[in-house]
Amino acid sequence: MKAFKTTVTSAIALCLMMSSSMATAEITARMGTSLPDSHPQTLGAQYFSKLVNEKSDGEITIQVFSNGILGNDVNMTSMLQSGTLQFTVPSTATLASLNSDFSIISLPFQFSNEAQADEVLDGDVGKSLLDSLNNKGLSALAFWENGFRHITNSRRPINSLDDLKGLKIRTMQNDLYIGLFNGLNANAVPMPVTELFTALETHTVDGQENPYTVINTARFFEVQKYLSRTAHAYDALVLLASKPFMDSLNETQRQIIHEAAQEATTYQRAESRRLNNELLAELEKKMEINEVSEDERDRMGSSLQPLIERYQNELDSGLVEDFKQAL
Ligand code: PAF
Repeated sequence: MKAFKTTVTSAIALCLMMSSSMATAEITARMGTSLPDSHPQTLGAQYFSKLVNEKSDGEITIQVFSNGILGNDVNMTSMLQSGTLQFTVPSTATLASLNSDFSIISLPFQFSNEAQADEVLDGDVGKSLLDSLNNKGLSALAFWENGFRHITNSRRPINSLDDLKGLKIRTMQNDLYIGLFNGLNANAVPMPVTELFTALETHTVDGQENPYTVINTARFFEVQKYLSRTAHAYDALVLLASKPFMDSLNETQRQIIHEAAQEATTYQRAESRRLNNELLAELEKKMEINEVSEDERDRMGSSLQPLIERYQNELDSGLVEDFKQAL
């Protein structure tokens, strides 16, 4: 009888221990970014991770791996689809290979300022783009910002369309960007950003194009002399979660991820804007920077008109209409 009582007591104790450990079962997720810790992409990731941890009372931990340690944007997006990585933040240009409609955001010379971009991304166009990734193994949580892109190179200042002739310019691995730089008479060389510093240093390419935050935090100024302020395209990032991972969470946990994503978005966009302004002043001390006149920007835009129209005709017509209305 005594042995029976002891067995029952031990079984109850074991059940209590198991249920309490199940209640506090900790979830550890990984998030990869392609840029250094000081870039707003990674700053946003750190802030999102902190919010998720606080809101879940420590139940969910997101470890952030910056600077392409886990792979480039294309690899990391595939890892999310297969469930081997839980979060990442690629450019909309990377996502055009999953849904070509994402190209609408990257069309050159469309946005005049960040407020216009917010209008498009937070409206019907943005919502339909985010939803479209649901059947691709991805849960798209929000649009973050990379910013307006400008050209750097080691050969000469770009004051006019003609100055781009023959320059080897690294682009993202995206057909629209390849068409854009070939359309400006440069030679587009697509490659992941994680390989770019070495390619610039060894002169495999002459130049590249990115916002000031990337040029400064990835230290491209060490291997590039000229920065020409073309603002030829606006670039948004997408905060992505792995759908298999999101499906493995309970409703409360999913809610926490969504709330943290919204709060982190406000922070990330503000940091991106603050740093893009501040870092231009930093870059002025390190590079030769030139303004590109409105007339020359118009000439560049006009020479890209056939490319812009081709994309507008190929993309979803409702989306293109909504995009034009929002501008
Ligand atoms: O140039 C790139 O690859 C992109 O701007 C970024 C954001 C650095 C990586 O997606």
